[in-house]
Amino acid sequence: MTPIITLTTRDGAEHEIKGSPDATVMEAIRDAGFDELLAICGGCCSCATCHVYVENGGDRLPPMSPDEDDLLDSSDHRTTTSRLSCQLRLHDAGDGLRIRIASED
Ligand code: FES
Repeated sequence: MTPIITLTTRDGAEHEIKGSPDATVMEAIRDAGFDELLAICGGCCSCATCHVYVENGGDRLPPMSPDEDDLLDSSDHRTTTSRLSCQLRLHDAGDGLRIRIASED
């Protein structure tokens, strides 16, 4: 099954995007053509430019690593729902994940 994510971009618009179960949320967003998520490091957990808020379905995701936690601390826009989207796999989240792209630092 192809997981479907509801993505809210910075302009407040909602989009349904699909991704392969093996993809990360960052890859699914980028592959769907949204360029708000810079993902400068390409997914190796060293830039924090793939910052998103998980508005629904976060309880199904694995806990963040100390590296992800440290990187998120560098953001002025961190909230309790913040995650780095390159660290989230669609097969963990399944259907119904709601993601909002975080404000730009
Ligand atoms: S893409 Fe760089 S930390 Fe996620």
